[in-house]
Amino acid sequence: MKIDVLTLFPEMFGGVLHTSMLGRAEANGILEFDIHNIRDYSLNKHKNTDDYAFGGGAGMVMMAQPIFDCMEDVLKGERARRILMTPRGRTLTPELARELAEEQRIVIIAGHYEGLDERISELIDDEISIGDYVLTGGELPAMVLIDCVSRFIPGVLGCSESAEDESFSNDGLLEYPQYTRPADFRGRLVPEVLLNGNHAEINKWRRRMSLLKTLENRPDLLEKAELTKADLEFLSLHGYEK
Ligand code: ADE
Repeated sequence: MKIDVLTLFPEMFGGVLHTSMLGRAEANGILEFDIHNIRDYSLNKHKNTDDYAFGGGAGMVMMAQPIFDCMEDVLKGERARRILMTPRGRTLTPELARELAEEQRIVIIAGHYEGLDERISELIDDEISIGDYVLTGGELPAMVLIDCVSRFIPGVLGCSESAEDESFSNDGLLEYPQYTRPADFRGRLVPEVLLNGNHAEINKWRRRMSLLKTLENRPDLLEKAELTKADLEFLSLHGYEK
């Protein structure tokens, strides 16, 4: 997949995109990143990319022209899924990430300042938010989106199953606790059940831990989770009522 980002702060992306799993996927040719500086497309002699809002109000607005010119130069008439990161967008979910992972090419606009000239909406297919909080710009959200989508692209993760076996894929429950060696760390012991090799017992314990963690941190997820009669009985012992 080719991923282009349009931003005023290209330097923010280097560490994240060229390191760890994303860096490896890029080295293996699975992902290709191209970061474009919107400022390079300013026609203004001071290279400004923002201006006052018509109608007044606090804060500056990103101008349409540099973003239109940048997008046209990047795409050169080719097709891509064009995304604007904005807290006004629909919320990123695993379903949306999986859908985007099917694309050959995506272009992401990372907005800044109080907002963007509304005429930019003509350039985009999706407005996406990473959650109900406002960050200082769209760069971190763009990196979150890239990371999240990449996990669903075959070959990006080391093990092909890993994208399925985690919180939010696990029947809609949060992930169970994991332990590694040593079995005794400063007197804190690994639960006995994990050491005895009884896989039926281990699976039962893990399921229960997932249920408890979800009840504790995200009880809202239990409404949509796929729960068995045994799950509901276990949860009811811990105060959950459907
Ligand atoms: N820009 C600022 N906050 C954002 C958010 N929560 N999601 C996407 N883009 C943003």
